Amino acid sequence: MRFDPIFSQRAEAKTGSSLSFPEEQMLPPTAYQIVHDEIMLDGNARLNLATFVGTWMGDYADRLYAESFDKNMIDKDEYPQTAAIEERCWRMLADLWHTDPEGAMGTSTIGSSEACMLGGLALKRRWQQARRTAGKDTSKPNLVMSSAVQVVWEKFCNYWDIEPRYVPVTDEHPCLDGANLADYIDENTIGVIAIMGVTYTGVYEPVTKIAAALDDVQAKTGLDIAIHVDGASGGMVAPFLQPEIEWDFRVPRVHSISTSGHKYGLVYPGVGWVVWAKEEYLPEDLVFKVSYLGGEMPTLALNFSRPGAQVVLQYFTFLRMGRDGYRRVHEASQLVAKSIATAVGNMPEFEVIADGSDIPVVAWRFADGVSKPWTLFDLSDRLRAKGWQVPSYPLPDNLSDRTVQRVVVRNGLGEELATSLIDDIRAEVTTLNTLSQPLPFPTKTGYRH
Ligand SMILES: Cc1ncc(COP(=O)(O)O)c(C=O)c1O
Repeated sequence: MRFDPIFSQRAEAKTGSSLSFPEEQMLPPTAYQIVHDEIMLDGNARLNLATFVGTWMGDYADRLYAESFDKNMIDKDEYPQTAAIEERCWRMLADLWHTDPEGAMGTSTIGSSEACMLGGLALKRRWQQARRTAGKDTSKPNLVMSSAVQVVWEKFCNYWDIEPRYVPVTDEHPCLDGANLADYIDENTIGVIAIMGVTYTGVYEPVTKIAAALDDVQAKTGLDIAIHVDGASGGMVAPFLQPEIEWDFRVPRVHSISTSGHKYGLVYPGVGWVVWAKEEYLPEDLVFKVSYLGGEMPTLALNFSRPGAQVVLQYFTFLRMGRDGYRRVHEASQLVAKSIATAVGNMPEFEVIADGSDIPVVAWRFADGVSKPWTLFDLSDRLRAKGWQVPSYPLPDNLSDRTVQRVVVRNGLGEELATSLIDDIRAEVTTLNTLSQPLPFPTKTGYRH
């Protein structure tokens, strides 16, 4: 047996970031230490203000996580309770989003991306079926959405050979609001995507206005176009903070809604949900019935195995929070967001473009007329040196000359931390303001959101 202090063991010295597959074993404590030390260099998750994804759940959730990390969500036959919990969760979401849970359909997913893909596939398949029945061509499907959609929709169109039709965001129409929508719709449109909580700014797209524009299209052309709501963030915020906004299944044109359980659903990374208001909106031939280890298992998913623990955690959160708990947690985040927005808005350099009124996200840019030798990327970089991860990125398409900086306020960013953040933003801006010319190495954004 060797008794070297752990950091002087031979294995420690040898591994580095070798790409060749290791020949020999090493002791668990050594391997642990190597990996532990490497991930120590990651950013601190709680200070990651770029992500929408949950970074704190608390002791009881952590305990449940440890009790269920070995469950495979696909093994419904072997883990029938986890399967029952999954179904209960999406039926609860159907209820939350104002449809009859008994008549709805849904599933858990690995996140919103998979949920969006399934929602989009259902739209495509229903359109194909209707066209085939009518003896019409099905070779040129298109999907209509704002140019500010999250990258998943670009991927969806790319992977499934669908023409993406982006309605550009402009100063007058900063999100999809129904204006000019008719120009993008034709008989090959499989559906329209509405976003509850635009990734760039957090704002809600007005689903009722989009639906009204589609009602006009139907009145003029007979085309009956469905809406899928991408509620990655807002799907778990609006029901609690803005229950009066009609964006969900109260709008009959909304056939399906996706959300990330791991964002404002308050669960660690790895769970999303998609729900169809009525069974008929999900073509039956997208559901596979797999005979597996003695059971018949209906599945609707892009992948097979995936962790069941996050679904268990989602159920825990639904029980633990209820509507009242979610409202209180999100209200607290919104208060923090608003105080950040006020503080940033009071700085002469910036203009706030999202103040947390929809989802608790704050975004700002340089105020009109402000010209500095430094950029928001430089500010992100300096904040990063203090541990804060505050992304800057250009807006999409014809607003791409605009750079914005964004903070996502989540459960875990309290007033105290927010005050430190503001102090650091002020201090770094003061330092950057002393520059008389741009930094010799301009900072490039490292964030992709
Ligand atoms: C509007 C929107 N849709 C989809 C996604 C993808 O979600 P996920 O990361 O859960 O796959 C995001 C992620 O930020 C988003 O903001």
